[in-house]
Amino acid sequence: LLPRVAIGAGAVDLADWPFRAGGLYLEIGFGDGERLVHRAKARPDAAFLGCEPFVNGVAKLLASMEREQVGNIRIHAGDARELLDRLPDACLDGVDLFYPDPWPKRRHRKRRFVSDESLSALAVRMKPQALLRFASDIDDYTGWTLARVARSPDFTWLVDRPADWRIPWPDWQSTRYERKAFAEGREGAYLTFRRR
Ligand SMILES: C[S@@+](CC[C@H](N)C(=O)[O-])C[C@H]1O[C@@H](n2cnc3c(N)ncnc32)[C@H](O)[C@@H]1O
Repeated sequence: LLPRVAIGAGAVDLADWPFRAGGLYLEIGFGDGERLVHRAKARPDAAFLGCEPFVNGVAKLLASMEREQVGNIRIHAGDARELLDRLPDACLDGVDLFYPDPWPKRRHRKRRFVSDESLSALAVRMKPQALLRFASDIDDYTGWTLARVARSPDFTWLVDRPADWRIPWPDWQSTRYERKAFAEGREGAYLTFRRR
């Protein structure tokens, strides 16, 4: 299945994608792909692009796609930063970054996916008004992300009340990672940013 659904090398040509009437959505670091399959099944009119460098995760996603007969997912089995460089400008209707690797040690924080540079790169590939959704169980990473979004010219945090970050989105599906975090006593923070 992988050769049929993997993004090839070079610039990504979306003209080859037959099912984009409902939009194009990217999930960065899909883990086992549970959430991606759930969303893609619910939205057969839309296209989903999943990005994950961990090969076991890619294998699990492929198995679920086959089992669930889901055909509207394409995969980049590698680093999201490398994929973003190859996407056309303003092509994404939404981007999900759920529970990115936390890198809790101070000296490792620069490895975190969220940075001034990655926010700029995402903004270039997102359509105006598109949503960037972020979840984390690590308070320090949530604060780190809010600080970078606050100084970004490209995104606004959509928030009125605590429920806006305490309650996940209607299409939410929990994952093994999230269940483990809850079992260890941590809570999720769910942030929604809109591309200006
Ligand atoms: C803590 S797991 C969370 C998995 C899943 N998003 C979830 O909510 O359960 C973080 C995932 O991000 C992936 N990842 C790390 N760096 C990445 C990068 N630069 N591009 C894409 N995925 C990345 C990891 O391999 C891992 O599967």
